[in-house]
Amino acid sequence: MTLSLRGAAQVLLPPEDGLPYVRDAAGMRLEPGSVTVRDGAIAALEDDPGADEVIDVAGGAIVPGLVDCHTHLPFAGWRAEEYEQKVTGVPYEEIARGGGGIAASARALAEASDGAVLAQARAIRAEMLAHGTTTVEAKTGYGLSREGERRLVRLARELGADRVTGLFAHAVPPGESPGGWMDAVDALAAECDVDALDIYVESVAFRNEDLERLGAIAAREGVPLRAHVEQFNANRSVPVALAAGARSVDHLACLHPDDLAPLAAAECAAVLLPGAELLGDEAVAPGRALAEAGAICVVATDCNPGTSPVLSLPLVVGLAVRRYGWSARQALLACTLNAAWVLGLDDRGSIEVGKRADLVVLDGPVEHVPYRFGRNPVRLVIAGGEVVWRRR
Ligand code: NIG
Ligand code: FE
Repeated sequence: MTLSLRGAAQVLLPPEDGLPYVRDAAGMRLEPGSVTVRDGAIAALEDDPGADEVIDVAGGAIVPGLVDCHTHLPFAGWRAEEYEQKVTGVPYEEIARGGGGIAASARALAEASDGAVLAQARAIRAEMLAHGTTTVEAKTGYGLSREGERRLVRLARELGADRVTGLFAHAVPPGESPGGWMDAVDALAAECDVDALDIYVESVAFRNEDLERLGAIAAREGVPLRAHVEQFNANRSVPVALAAGARSVDHLACLHPDDLAPLAAAECAAVLLPGAELLGDEAVAPGRALAEAGAICVVATDCNPGTSPVLSLPLVVGLAVRRYGWSARQALLACTLNAAWVLGLDDRGSIEVGKRADLVVLDGPVEHVPYRFGRNPVRLVIAGGEVVWRRR
């Protein structure tokens, strides 16, 4: 089966083939052109008039399939009532004391059947696909018990997430201490089949010493370490994560200025989550300074029922461009090639001959994605060489 996408006004291309990530987005090229797909892979950066299907994309753009490398799928239900409390001024601590927050999602999950959890997650996944997301990471974290976390690993696999991250250290379960729960995290890491390990470091969750310990556990298990850090406070977790060889540090709204240059120089991605920043009225991560200092910049939805009930990467691109002062190509790089690197998926993320044919056709130039904010610019989605979504 050969498919030809003909005559795009823009094709987003990396500076050269074979790069694992790109630090300087100015090297990303936008050129008019065509893409031919054969047997699930990108076969040529030109038109094939004899293809089985030829799609005219005149006036539009072809970009790599979008990669959402930080979501909290699967979860059960939503927490809209909390959002209203938050915006009308009820402090988060009070919401949490009233049984809200992560504990509320943990209860909802415990009460929901596997079928109900999967149905909700699949519906969200389908909406993500319609917004151009062809690769998605899923995390555990709402289990809050050993059985609950094991169940989430299983459900994330059943969902068909491209990568499953064990966020076993998300919240300290009732009656546990952070250090005590880290023993359970250690055991979960040894017994569960996960692709990475993650931790939430914050005054209300885990500590830098727990992050250090998770780094040792990740090294033992041979999986990448990721960490939720500096979301609400500057806890100085970034140096700890870098010393532990983390693949990514995520959030960074309160990144300490002294930690910016070491992070930018490291082989560790800065995963920024502008949806959580906006909806949580958080500080704004120093996205522009990180990009200028040469960091491996990434954005993701952080899709979760608490801080970021957001599933659209085009929307996240719009937020990133406005709030970080990025170009559209910088923001698209941050949710394609660089995000695929975070997940260790070097078969996708950029338009190169031989790579997996995960492609998104936009109905206008890439600059319209952030500019026409909140609108879905996706016309066609191709995953593994197959057309998986088409705008009616
Ligand atoms: O990435 N920061 C911690 N975890 C999630 C929020 C979890 C929740 O509130 O349900 C996040 O923002
Ligand atoms: Fe998160």
